[in-house]
Amino acid sequence: MPVVYRPAREHELERAEQLVVQSINDLTQRHGFGKMASLRPAHFQSFSLRDDPDGLWIAEDGGDIFGFAFSWVCGDLWFLAELFVAPGQQGRGIGNELLARTLAHAETKKATRKALITFAFNTVSQGLYVQHGLLPRLPLNFLNISRDTLLNGLQNASIQSAALKATDLQHLSDIDAHALGTSREKHHRYLMSDSGMTGFLLHSGDECIGYLYVNSEGHIGPLAVTRADIMGPAFQTALKLAAEQGSAQVTAFIPGTNDAALKIAVDHGMRITFPMLMMSSANFGDWKCYLPRNPGFM
Ligand SMILES: CC(C)(COP(=O)(O)OP(=O)(O)OC[C@H]1O[C@@H](n2cnc3c(N)ncnc32)[C@H](O)[C@@H]1OP(=O)(O)O)[C@@H](O)C(=O)NCCC(=O)NCCS
Repeated sequence: MPVVYRPAREHELERAEQLVVQSINDLTQRHGFGKMASLRPAHFQSFSLRDDPDGLWIAEDGGDIFGFAFSWVCGDLWFLAELFVAPGQQGRGIGNELLARTLAHAETKKATRKALITFAFNTVSQGLYVQHGLLPRLPLNFLNISRDTLLNGLQNASIQSAALKATDLQHLSDIDAHALGTSREKHHRYLMSDSGMTGFLLHSGDECIGYLYVNSEGHIGPLAVTRADIMGPAFQTALKLAAEQGSAQVTAFIPGTNDAALKIAVDHGMRITFPMLMMSSANFGDWKCYLPRNPGFM
């Protein structure tokens, strides 16, 4: 039967995420990195489907899901959050077809800037994206450390932080507009509604100078600041707040050009686990001021 490409439906998102996990782990194990992904509820996918159904696509054959693609748009920025083909079905054009449909999403929404984060060791995905004008621009690394090791060397944080409130949304939009060139207000609403996330506004006296989120698993991000010289103390604060979550590990996702956060991470003994790569249609973002949450949320 020919493969059918069609918009994704809510009830299929969990099955689609099973395929995503299978495809990631197949790739990372083939490259000697071990398993990277584990199955999680498809909350962000669900939220995005309700927000804008044009961005989520399924490749199906006789009731089996062979591939899944998911893009979101904020202002003029289109971001490919997921593109995955089942391990046994790769290399026969399915990824290309799904990508074409999500790129059409960018056209419909008049998004002129396009970006994604992929695996630095996947030649196939990079080759595919280059064909579509998305070029390698920025290295990023996942890093982790055990909470116990981190606590041994943790220094005091010098930035004041306060729990995020719904009334802070305008501050968050302004900070993102500086760091990313677009407001991500809807994504902050999503993060604030997630009971596993804790958000903080960073301030110096009355001045709002950034924000950060940590989750209950000790993961840091997104984190954004208004000036590059605040990144070091902001990341230091994030390490402290992440350690307070009490999970066994603390993790972060740091752009290679973010010298302040990367140096603090390595000085504390954090280890690089997975090298990733931002690809985009043009340079964008001030990565000295922004730490993405993960490759899908950005
Ligand atoms: C990346 C992925 C989505 C691509 O889907 P796919 O169905 O395997 O890819 P397609 O067959 O449609 O196209 C692959 C293209 O990459 C090209 N390609 C393959 N290896 C390449 C290489 N070493 N250098 C450059 N291009 C390469 C192929 O030529 C092909 O293009 P063509 O059809 O124009 O010749 C899929 O392989 C996958 O799920 N991989 C594992 C997970 C992953 O990395 N996902 C991307 C997350 S951002």
